[in-house]
Amino acid sequence: MRISIDYTNMLAPACGPHGVTEEELRAEFGRGSEAIRTLRAKRDQIRWRDLPYNQDEIVEKILAVANDVRERAESFVVLGIGGSALGPIAVQQALNHPRWNELPKAKRNGPRLYVEDNVDPERMAALFDVIDPETTVFNVITKSGSTSETMAQLLTVMRTLIDLYGEEHLKDRLIATTDREKGNLIGIAKKYGLTTFYVPEGVGGRFSEMCPVGLLPAAVCGIDIKEMLKGAARMDALCDNDNIEENPALMYALLETIAMKKGANVGVLMPYADSLKYFADWYAQLWAESLGKKKDGLRFGQTPVKALGVTDQHSQVQLYTDGPFDKTVTFLGVEKYRTEFMIPHAVDENPNVAFLSGHTFNELISAERKATAHAVTVSGHMNKTILLPEVNANTIGQLMMLFELATAYAGELLGINAYDQPGVEEGKNMTYALLGKKGYEAKLEEMKDSAERKLV
Ligand code: PA5
Repeated sequence: MRISIDYTNMLAPACGPHGVTEEELRAEFGRGSEAIRTLRAKRDQIRWRDLPYNQDEIVEKILAVANDVRERAESFVVLGIGGSALGPIAVQQALNHPRWNELPKAKRNGPRLYVEDNVDPERMAALFDVIDPETTVFNVITKSGSTSETMAQLLTVMRTLIDLYGEEHLKDRLIATTDREKGNLIGIAKKYGLTTFYVPEGVGGRFSEMCPVGLLPAAVCGIDIKEMLKGAARMDALCDNDNIEENPALMYALLETIAMKKGANVGVLMPYADSLKYFADWYAQLWAESLGKKKDGLRFGQTPVKALGVTDQHSQVQLYTDGPFDKTVTFLGVEKYRTEFMIPHAVDENPNVAFLSGHTFNELISAERKATAHAVTVSGHMNKTILLPEVNANTIGQLMMLFELATAYAGELLGINAYDQPGVEEGKNMTYALLGKKGYEAKLEEMKDSAERKLV
């Protein structure tokens, strides 16, 4: 089962003068070939590309730990943020029942999953209203081992568990996923003898879904992680193709970077499936944090926008048709949904409603996707459609690797470093300063100097 990309509507013959011309595309093929060579040469730095191939042993350990958790836990809570949270959320939503946490235990193939991904005090407090610490296993995930948000979540959970069960029992209830050496979490994990998984070197947060960061929560919730990795391997191989027209990630990156030069500063991702709703959140981080960079006095990037079909047809599509030519839209379609749901007959006497009866919701959502793509195209806006034959572990593995590689290729084509995040680090440092962390006194002074203008 292979996912496909139809990019016809990115091109000028389909969408008109604001589209990419054949000449513009072909003119970039030389740089495209160079990007393939560069990514190959960087392979030992971008180790996330190897994850589908080099984790046999670690996958067995993940499955063993996951099985143990599945046997004894009612809830599994991920403590983490950004790249340590968005992948687990996206995969869970994609591959498990849409109302997983609300299902009765007998109908759920694993514990309830909560991924914290914030430090909103109301949310943190609310977690303890819905979980029972007695039957909960926590997984703290932080590559750097020092992110304030994750550390605050961890302190909260540790205090609760130590007060309830004593330090010696932390190891039964808390699992750590972090860097092998760097950061604060590894020391804590060693001190308390926690089961620990490692984020391999060369695997940045937003590229880490296929390592224990994403694989453990997925396996705990019964997802076939081996199949996910197989899908990712398949896409990695496809995207190493020297024939640019058969290399999906490179074509994606070429089209988007050309579109950026033509003024498309916005990249909308619009899945037509609730199961892929949070895939768009994961994409938004990957695309924004990797490509939003400044270099040599120039600024790069494309603002990712998350939309959901058909819901956002009734909120955003007006802008995508009649608004400015500053965007591309990527539709995610599903050929075969896991459920077929009929629209029944109820008011056959009214033909204005009855035309729907006898069709399926599947036909309706697919027709709306095609209709919207057509409307966006005829209004002159570049768009493309990625079609998944089904949403399953293999196609999700393919899809994630496709976007990771498209991001990597786009980084090469733009000539920027897609793997750092200096802007995010700056925010982290300012937070340390504001909360009085030692060594950040100068940063605090910097903030005091900025003049305030307030209303009301
Ligand atoms: O992609 C990234 O590197 C970031 O978004 C991180 O994932 C995020 O800041 C959390 O960092 P960490 O996993 O080190 O706690």
